[in-house]
Amino acid sequence: MINILLFFIFILLAYNFYVHYGRNGRLINRIPGPSSYSIIRKILQSSRKDLWKLQILDQYYPVSKVWLFSIPFVFIRHPDDIEKILKMHKEKSFIYNFLHPWLNTGLLTSRGAKWQSRRKILNPTFRLAILQQFIEVFTKKGEDMANSLKNISDHIVKDLMLFISEYTLNTICDTVMGISLQEFDLFQQQYRNAVNQMLEFVVYRGLRPWLYLDWIFALTSKGRQQKKLLNIIHGLSQKIIAEKKLYHEQTNGRYLKNCDKCTIEEDNVEAVTIEKRRLTMMDLLIAASREGYLTDSDIKEEIDTILFAGHDTTAMTICYVLLLLADHKDVQDRVREEVNAVMHESGGRFTMQSLQNLSYLERCIKETMRLYPVVYFISRVTSEDVKLQSYLIPAGTSLLISIYGVHRDPNYWPNPEIFDPDRFLPDNIRNQHPYAYLPFSAGSRNCIGQRFALLEMKSFVASLIYNFYLEPIENLKDVQFNADMMIRPAYPLGLKFVPIIKKHADFKG
Ligand code: HEM
Repeated sequence: MINILLFFIFILLAYNFYVHYGRNGRLINRIPGPSSYSIIRKILQSSRKDLWKLQILDQYYPVSKVWLFSIPFVFIRHPDDIEKILKMHKEKSFIYNFLHPWLNTGLLTSRGAKWQSRRKILNPTFRLAILQQFIEVFTKKGEDMANSLKNISDHIVKDLMLFISEYTLNTICDTVMGISLQEFDLFQQQYRNAVNQMLEFVVYRGLRPWLYLDWIFALTSKGRQQKKLLNIIHGLSQKIIAEKKLYHEQTNGRYLKNCDKCTIEEDNVEAVTIEKRRLTMMDLLIAASREGYLTDSDIKEEIDTILFAGHDTTAMTICYVLLLLADHKDVQDRVREEVNAVMHESGGRFTMQSLQNLSYLERCIKETMRLYPVVYFISRVTSEDVKLQSYLIPAGTSLLISIYGVHRDPNYWPNPEIFDPDRFLPDNIRNQHPYAYLPFSAGSRNCIGQRFALLEMKSFVASLIYNFYLEPIENLKDVQFNADMMIRPAYPLGLKFVPIIKKHADFKG
């Protein structure tokens, strides 16, 4: 037994020596970075608060490396390097594999030809003509949100993220899925809690190479908890799919007829929970499955992907916009003036045009996403050797692209810590490096839902600003963040919504 153990240890040490001092290891060792020992110590202390800052260690600017035992990671944050990588090296690194038990290989996690064909099927869902039809839902949800806040006695929302994410999840389901979540109220609460915990587990596992093998992780208590969470998460997507399929069976698939041409059926058939006249992503997927291009599990992985990618990111960003507006009263007042004027012109309801006219609010959202890009890093693997900022990175290396780091680089954003929406005035942004601002990533694997997200965020924030004065409970600058898949506060953040008493002539929100 001892002999087997010693042999096993010997193999591990030999492998470790080989990766550290072989050709690739030697190239990576030329890059500066903190010692492996300090990183592993932090991981073992479960210090998530400090770990997420690894990507922005200024002393190693703009390239640094970290060894996680025998796995090297290279952090980059220079816009020229990012441009080179995003243009030439499109494959995602192995760290996305930790999302596979949840999202399998949907659009976010798939590679190569599979990704290309899926992106082609899903792109029409996010065309402007389709988004136009979602405005009504965005506006309605924004109004619902404002109305529910009016009933809170002390006007304080203690957990802003919990509050907002209910509406963003509902919005994704109503628009992209064509399903109302009202019937699944309990499910959706459990779903959102389960998503939060899953994101923690993904990072927990990513930082511990000894848990990389699925069967080993499954044996741990976290692995067993993850299984329970996945039952909840997949339960919601399965229900959505079953409901939508039933609808198309009952209507003999006639609403799927024109999916390939991306047109919209005008016929009017009664169905309690299904929107009829919008071409939804679900319709496109079901149409593709009827023609044999997709299986049921293909549909499920895309639904799981969009449910997650489309609700958590927007909810967290809306929270940061509101918190920053609460901290900057002058900016808040200016947004309100703009919203009031646009509401007046559009007869008290948002349209696509009126949302597009909210240019100052748009600058505030963009500036918020510069300071708090919720997806603060993305990862790619190099497909061949690549020269970056005086270092040669060998093929097969996992790169972590620090979106947070490039957004706070003083070489590209003077006084980067200051919240200044006018950085995004056309004249100020014209000469900016195209890869110095990447809240939705860039290149062919950019965010498919970015226009959807912007319109939704504008509708929600505008509705809240129109109806409430925002007052801070704590300053965002003092908040601690955790290492997570997103920049997430280490504890729930609250906000005070003081209702604005409207004069008689004002429109009601
Ligand atoms: C503020 C909101 C959002 C932010 C900050 C955001 C950010 C991002 C980023 C940075 C990526 C690239 C990820 C990577 O390379 O690993 C991405 C990809 C993606 N996003 Fe978003 N996103 C947002 C909203 C949405 C919405 C509303 C949807 C859907 C309705 C969506 C769906 C997706 C999908 C499916 C991908 C994968 C695209 C592909 O690889 O082809 N996102 N998002």
